[in-house]
Parts: sequence; structure tokens; C-alpha cells
Amino acid sequence: MQKNMKLNQEDMALLAGLPGLFLEWYRTAARNLPWRQNRQPYGVWLSEIMLQQTRVEAVKGFYQRFLEALPDIEALAAASEEQVFKLWEGLGYYRRARNLHRAAQLVVSEHQGVFPADYEGILALPGIGEYTAGAVASICFGIAKPAVDGNVLRVMARLLDSDEAIDQPAFKKKVSQGLEAVMAGISGAAVPDYISRSFDPGDFNQSLMEIGAMICLPKGMPKCCQCPARQLCRSHASGRAELLPVRQVKKPRRIEERTVFILQRGEEIALCRRCDQGLLAGLWELPNVAGRLSPDQAMAQAAAWGVYPVALEKSLERIHVFSHVEWRMTGYFIGCAAGGERTVLQKEELQDTAKELEWTSVRQRQLAHPLPAAFSLFLEE
Ligand code: ADE
Repeated sequence: MQKNMKLNQEDMALLAGLPGLFLEWYRTAARNLPWRQNRQPYGVWLSEIMLQQTRVEAVKGFYQRFLEALPDIEALAAASEEQVFKLWEGLGYYRRARNLHRAAQLVVSEHQGVFPADYEGILALPGIGEYTAGAVASICFGIAKPAVDGNVLRVMARLLDSDEAIDQPAFKKKVSQGLEAVMAGISGAAVPDYISRSFDPGDFNQSLMEIGAMICLPKGMPKCCQCPARQLCRSHASGRAELLPVRQVKKPRRIEERTVFILQRGEEIALCRRCDQGLLAGLWELPNVAGRLSPDQAMAQAAAWGVYPVALEKSLERIHVFSHVEWRMTGYFIGCAAGGERTVLQKEELQDTAKELEWTSVRQRQLAHPLPAAFSLFLEE
């Protein structure tokens, strides 16, 4: 395939052959996943948000638990942010939970509690990009919009035998346009009747995802002999399927050292809240500072916060990997004496605002102060 802005006629002819092959395969091979039980927008939307950065197997349990606790949009809109974060604890990428919650509140306040039934309306909700809007619009409302994620891009790069980097916007745009044209054509009138009557845009999008998840596997492991499109697939013919897709060379993750304080006073530990912007925005955290302090420096820092540090009990090294940053953390467990109930942390190097410390018991923390994984790593033993 050439590096043009659009797919050429031959590419389009290849794409036009996919619905027939993939839909037939999907009807017998699709996994029975919890969010495929029905096409109610709330459940489909929730599943698509959870699946954005998390594997299917990991999502299943969280999905069921979330739906049991908050079974519809009204319940989600009325829930506290704390409850939503608690249900999200362990899934990571908390911005997804915050946007989901905001979007539910918007659906209730602006759309009388009814999830929008058109692509533009869905795309306008917080936390919903083109991929999720396409998935929800097609699955729930039969709208002929594609849902192109990394899996689908890999499948398309192999089908087209393309050397273009799949993580570049140009390739995604081209594939989205091509799939949309095929889907719109099939949904339209001038198409063989046997296809148009049965064409289901949601199933077609899910068949592409499913091929990516079950057959056209990443890391050079495609199961081409089981693929319903192997006769059409150009990289199968050229023998290059295992070499594709190509990606841009990634920048290495930034490494940051941090010192984390597990300040203990009897049964309680001290927490504070991160500021409203940036990594883990607005979430609870263990007090921490940039850099790697020595034990003496850590005791001095705790004293400067006014928490009456008495003894440094132990230290632990932990690593947490985010998408662009890796934290290498030293955690100091420091026993503190009573006092300093309303301590304000003035010396947070990374953020300008002062923060208030809150002393919480284990139970309170589990109920009302869920901690992101980077910090709960220190409290697991
Ligand atoms: N990944 C993202 N959306 C999905 C879906 N609907 N089914 C399976 N895997 C997915």
C-alpha cells in the first residue's frame, strides 16, 4: 500500500470483502462476554470505557461489580465520586472514572437521563473519543461508524500489508475513512440484498476487535490458518504477517525518584489529596516528595510537616509504571506521636498548593479514601 492520504481502489475492494467473511465467523466464534448480553447503552458504554486501557479478562469482574452497585445512569450520576473511584480501584487510569461519572451527570441534566442515540451526541460526552463513540453508536444504535483501536489497526496493517506506522494519525484516519465508507455502503440501498438486510455495524466492529483479540494476535503470533480473511490478506500472501505492524520508535519512559511517607499513629495513617491537575489528579495519596531522601532527611521532612515523628520503623523500595513515567519509590514507615491533627503540608516540591493531612483508619481508607495502586503498593503486607 502506498503512503497516500486515502486508501486506493484496490484497498477499498479488499475492505469491501471483509463484512461477509468476518460477520459469518463472528456469529459462531464470538466470545460470550458479559457486555454482549444485551445492547443497552449504559452497559455497553461502561464496558468500552473499562476496556480502553485494560484487558478483557481483567475487566470482567470489575464490570459486574460496578453494574451491581450502580445499575443504571441515574444511579451512577447520583453516586459520590468517592464511591465511583472505589469501584474503579485496581483498574487504574482514574480519569476514565471521573469522566464516566461526569458524563452520567450530563446525561441526566441535559438529556433527561436518556443516553444520546446519535454519533455526535455520544462523541460530545466527556471521556468519549471517536473509538468509543463508534463502538457505542454501532453496537447500541446500529449506526454505521467504525471503531478503530490498536487491535483493529494491527489487523488492517496486516490485511493491507502496510509498512505505515499504525500509531501515526495518518494511518488511523485512512483506515477509519475506508471502514466507514464500506459500512455506509453496505448499510445503504445499492448493495446486494443478502448483505444489506443482515448487516449489523455493531457486530462488524466487534468482529474486527475479536479477530484482533483471538486470531490476528500481536507480537508476531497471528493464527493465520484460522483466519476467515486469509485468502484476502496481503501480508499472509507475502509472508510478512509476523513482521507487521510497524510502529514509530517510542520515547523511553521518564524515570522519577520519589520518597513516600507512611506516617503511622496507632491504627491510623496519614493521607492527603493530589491537586486537580496532572497525574492521578484529585486522588488520595500517601504524602510524598520528589527525589530520594535519606532516612535522616525523611525524619526531618516529617518533622517539618509537624507530625511528631518518633521512629523510622522500616523502609521499602517499590516501582510503579505509568504510561509515560516510571516512579522509583522509597517508602519510609514512620511512627508518629499524637498531635498535629490539622497539619498542612507546605513543602510539596512538585505542587504549589498546600495540602491538608488526614489521619484515617484502614476501614475508613477502604471505604472513603481509595488509594491508587502506586501508593497501595506500600500497604499490601
Ligand atoms: N475491546 C474493546 N471493546 C470491545 C468489545 N466490545 N468486545 C471485546 N473487546 C473489546
